[in-house]
Amino acid sequence: MNQETPAPSPSSEPNGRTALVVVAHHRSDSLTAAVAERAAARLEAAGYRVDLLDLHAEGFDPRNSEADEPDYSNRDKVYSDEVHAHIRRVHAAELIVPVFPVWWFGLPALLKGWIDRVWNYGLAYGRSRSPMEGKRMLWLGLAGLGERDPNADLVLDLLEGPLRRGVSEYCGIFDVHTAALFDSEGQDLTGEARERHYRELFAGAEAAVDKLVAG
Ligand SMILES: Cc1cc2nc3c(=O)[nH]c(=O)nc-3n(C[C@H](O)[C@H](O)[C@H](O)COP(=O)(O)O)c2cc1C
Repeated sequence: MNQETPAPSPSSEPNGRTALVVVAHHRSDSLTAAVAERAAARLEAAGYRVDLLDLHAEGFDPRNSEADEPDYSNRDKVYSDEVHAHIRRVHAAELIVPVFPVWWFGLPALLKGWIDRVWNYGLAYGRSRSPMEGKRMLWLGLAGLGERDPNADLVLDLLEGPLRRGVSEYCGIFDVHTAALFDSEGQDLTGEARERHYRELFAGAEAAVDKLVAG
């Protein structure tokens, strides 16, 4: 993995497009938040207007309610105001980048609830022409396990199965990128080795963003 990843060029010329970076963490000083900031900066350097959606800071409620249950006999159902406000931000974006810690080989409840409620019938899927057509995605997951841990394949399975195929492709998004940042807690590392490890994690996130931007 490169430690120094040069910014993409041409840079900083606005291209009129929006990237939605979705952060799913309860701490603003988390590694997840720091990775999301790096991703956002990279997207801005590539000319995107970044809409940074911090689900916890914005008080998003992941609990579902009757108002947001799909009605499969009515794809034009009006859901809660919160859901419509969020799907407008999704629809406005060409690139969508959820950044999250892997918890129990799944999504944190906050992000799972955002998908459950906001990526709803008629809004994200269920129409003859997908409302998500033409969008591109990068699922960026941070995992505590090391890359060589016997269970590391479960992290990759999450990204490639439920997230790429189960969510993105199901909703009509076919340009889908995934990246796992392993050993996110830097266990057993100290001093310079630890600092190098985190530089490599950030570089990995930036390289994944660059691939997304390149298409
Ligand atoms: C509730 C919980 C469940 C976790 N489950 C997993 C897991 O299934 N696989 C894994 O590799 N790491 C797991 N971890 C480790 C987190 O992925 C890790 O703490 C996180 O990526 C560190 O980033 P952060 O400092 O931004 O939270 C879990 C952590 C917590 C708190």
